[in-house]
Amino acid sequence: MGNLAIEWLGNKVKILDQTKLPQQEVYLELSDHQSIASAITELKIRGAPAIGIVGAYAIALAALKIEAGSKGGFLEKLRGVIETIAATRPTARNLFAGIDRMEEVAQADNTIEQTKAALVGEAIKIHSEEVEADQKLSQMGAELIEDGFTILTHCNAGSLATAGYGTALGVIKRAEEQGKKIKVLATETRPLLQGARLTTWELKKANIPVTLITDSMAGYFMSRGEVSCVIVGADRIAANGDTANKIGTYSLAVLAKENGIPFYVAAPTTTIDLSLASGDEIPIEQRSPDEVTHIQRVGIAPEGVDAANPAFDVTPHRYITAIITERGIIKEPYGGELKEMVL
Ligand code: MRU
Repeated sequence: MGNLAIEWLGNKVKILDQTKLPQQEVYLELSDHQSIASAITELKIRGAPAIGIVGAYAIALAALKIEAGSKGGFLEKLRGVIETIAATRPTARNLFAGIDRMEEVAQADNTIEQTKAALVGEAIKIHSEEVEADQKLSQMGAELIEDGFTILTHCNAGSLATAGYGTALGVIKRAEEQGKKIKVLATETRPLLQGARLTTWELKKANIPVTLITDSMAGYFMSRGEVSCVIVGADRIAANGDTANKIGTYSLAVLAKENGIPFYVAAPTTTIDLSLASGDEIPIEQRSPDEVTHIQRVGIAPEGVDAANPAFDVTPHRYITAIITERGIIKEPYGGELKEMVL
């Protein structure tokens, strides 16, 4: 589906509203940082690399509108914008990697007008680098995929989540383009159904055979020898390789190990956070219990029942067979190689 998830239009950013998929393909044109912040929080745009990109565009768009008499005044107003974007979702490293880059550009010794232009340029660069990283990591990861594989994936780590080719789905698409016969098992991904709504939609468009299963069916298929490998994306990878990804990923990794199935994480290096020694330090987003007590706004539980909704979990590095990045494929021990890759 090309780059349809995010498009830069010069004075606004166009996104495909993912909450409406697969029933409707609705595009939104957002020109201010508040509406982009809401779109991120409400998951209209989602997936770690994608929110890194739109977060950077939000800062650039806000910067263009700032009126200030001095560079100091400009930076002060920009600080408020950055705080709003940083407060949208806490787990994806890419959002903060993008913010850090935009802040560095803002701080450089330039006039206000030069800074505005440089911020737009940096956001476009962040976007194009993510697209390029997807292509590269998909090419590398495809080497791990053999003809006839059935691949289980969780959540959505495709074009919708990255604005490019996708990470986990990019690897799958590339392997299929190489002529390998691939089948995909997509977990529905409760509570918000990114697998059922988005991954199946993308794979159907790409003509890759996909079978939708509920999250609780994964062990059944793995224990019967019907899964060749698992590939997922990542929201944040700590310095030791521990990886935060969509809730349920950890259970899949444990099941994969029990059944002797390779478990791969595919992510650009912008997802790696060397400042965190282990996954214990990764902030986990807690979302509204309503998302658990309701499916697509229809209540499924007794009114008033308590519900928990952690949006991500952490898979310890010992369950991860390899991490696929645009700079190479790495295996245990992760510490040293992850560092080399980022620095
Ligand atoms: O809550 P979401 O839909 O933003 O969660 C997304 C995921 O967990 C993805 O697997 C991850 O961001 C990687 S996307 C390439």
